[in-house]
Amino acid sequence: MISATCVAPVNIALIKYWGKRNEDLILPVNDSISMTLNTNEMCAKTTISASEKFERNRMWLNGDEVDFEENVRLMRCLKGVQNLVLANGISKVPLSWKLHIASRNNFPTAAGLASSAAGYACLVFTLARLYGLPHNEELTTIARQGSGSACRSLYGGFVHWHRGVLENGSDSVAVPVVPAQHWPNMHVLILVVNDARKKTSSTLGMQRAVTTSTLLQQRVTDVVPHRTKKLIDAINTRNFTEFAEITMRESNQFHAIALDTFPPCIYMNDVSHAIVNFVHSYNEAAGTILTAYTFDAGPNACLYVLEEHVPKLLASINEAFPNDIAQSVEYLQGIPMTTP
Ligand code: DP6
Repeated sequence: MISATCVAPVNIALIKYWGKRNEDLILPVNDSISMTLNTNEMCAKTTISASEKFERNRMWLNGDEVDFEENVRLMRCLKGVQNLVLANGISKVPLSWKLHIASRNNFPTAAGLASSAAGYACLVFTLARLYGLPHNEELTTIARQGSGSACRSLYGGFVHWHRGVLENGSDSVAVPVVPAQHWPNMHVLILVVNDARKKTSSTLGMQRAVTTSTLLQQRVTDVVPHRTKKLIDAINTRNFTEFAEITMRESNQFHAIALDTFPPCIYMNDVSHAIVNFVHSYNEAAGTILTAYTFDAGPNACLYVLEEHVPKLLASINEAFPNDIAQSVEYLQGIPMTTP
């Protein structure tokens, strides 16, 4: 028996991926940019064992068995990595050996906390380690076919997922913008408002947005290309004010599109909206932008803030929200995938 174990970080989108132009290959309608978090607290950990004695491929997620062979996305990742192995011509493990896969997330699954991103990134990276493949751009095209946002978790620091133009998706890849060390004092506070499973999954929500939102097309053609360039500049020059404004506008536009979807998808709740108001008042009182919010497909807030401003911000949040926030956790930027 041969085994490999890896840990994958979560990433939080600054420019949001929302909408596919090809559902099977998971090709997005627009570019997106994210920041990878450090793996110490919020991550997925996967162990894969291969043996000639195993009769079939099996997988356990957080201890419960899932129907691996029937799951299209999981099988696409396995086939994708195995095709790369065939193309490479060498493998540490015979492709005929069946696999047992055990994966765990140490954060609430499907509560809008990017669990699928870390999960699929970890699956693909662990498969690559098992078979002896190098970490390269092609792996991001495979992780993308598990869950779009997963392709960005294969790198640390800030990451750019290019939508690509080719029909086969080979140019829809994630590439690093800058490593975590470039902006070492950039931190994230995650405020867990509610860890219940979200009502409309991202997959379904974005499918509906593509077919019913009239705002989405304008966002894709007129807004995202310009914002992507501006955000990359802000990251390169460590311009927090610019970074924060783009991030907050992005979050707001994404949720506006969710509302413009018919029937609408409502991901933020009253506490989320109160956090948005809090952040704007906090920045206004400071006379400068000290923090920025972003919300994915759920009510939990991610606040970007420089390390030196964390203690004061946390104290103010605790004072403003004594009962509504279940947990607030501080994260540093993440490093690439690891093998513990
Ligand atoms: C709001 O990657 O979970 O977090 O590709 O259908 O699996 P699928 O969707 P998923 O969508 C993530 C959406 C988002 C924004 C983002 O991460 O860019």
